[in-house]
Amino acid sequence: MPTETVYGLAADARSAAAVSEIYRLKGRPLNHPVIVHLGDRSWVERWGHSIPAWADDLMARFWPGPLTVIVPRRPEVGDWLTGGQDTVGLRIPQHPLALQLIMAFGDGLAAPSANRFGRVSPTTAQHVEQEFQEFKCLGSPLLVLDGGPCQVGLESTIVDATGQAPRILRPGSLGPHIGALDCWRGPQAPTPVVPGSLSSHYQPAVPCHLWDGQPLHPGDFLVHFGESSDSDGNRVALGQDPELAARSLYSTLRRLELQAQRILIQPPPPGPNWQAIADRIRRATAAPLDP
Ligand code: TXA
Ligand code: MG
Repeated sequence: MPTETVYGLAADARSAAAVSEIYRLKGRPLNHPVIVHLGDRSWVERWGHSIPAWADDLMARFWPGPLTVIVPRRPEVGDWLTGGQDTVGLRIPQHPLALQLIMAFGDGLAAPSANRFGRVSPTTAQHVEQEFQEFKCLGSPLLVLDGGPCQVGLESTIVDATGQAPRILRPGSLGPHIGALDCWRGPQAPTPVVPGSLSSHYQPAVPCHLWDGQPLHPGDFLVHFGESSDSDGNRVALGQDPELAARSLYSTLRRLELQAQRILIQPPPPGPNWQAIADRIRRATAAPLDP
């Protein structure tokens, strides 16, 4: 299903069998929990409990939208969603087709990003088709709801609401807006804690490195943050607007991995508006995952 962030691979969150298909298709380790997508804030209590007032405020302010909140799970919420953890991640996406699907279904849809484990998240229906082509060839049904290109283009901001004070577990487009709210004036600053920051993630299919100004070799493509007029054959500009750059980062990486022998990425400008992009680039250019 489309969402405003990236496309998700959706399954009935109440069904262990359906959710296990997600893990199988993605090749995802079972201890990586999945986010449950809701249609309405009143559904939160079906899944979580003991939600602090500040987390309620975040939901009220940013849902539907690119925010995932991690809350203590109700006892009946399955281990198959949570990787055995006693918490569950919830979000209401801001995409008309996703909301229509969830409302028609009537309960939570588990949906990780619709890519094989460790790969770049898909931001168009065509990306999803490409990602799971081999399963279609094997005769498995795969239905892709085409909701157009994702408007945000990076995964949701994840906020841990299980402690006294909020913690950002994954930076996203909301980071700077969330960081300005009163709830952060607690004992803890909104420092992002990125799970698995040492392991690579969001990896293109060809070697991908940070660019430190070195000359390009044949087969190299450079992704940089200059003005779009500064794009030519093997230099692709994402521009100087973080929102627009986020929207096109993944589709650029997917396009280039089909042409390039190597992708070099310029470190983005400093500052909170670029934090989510910097995080994804750090992961895309980290050493590959162990097999
Ligand atoms: O924007 C998004 O969040 C997209 C769209 C489809 O909604 N979904 C997405 O899901 O990015 P996924 O599974 O690719 O990434 C979810 C991240 C994982 O790193 C997972 O470990 C973390 O959320 N997560 C989910 N539930 C969690 C929990 N209970 N505690 C800690 N981390 C959790
Ligand atoms: Mg993912």
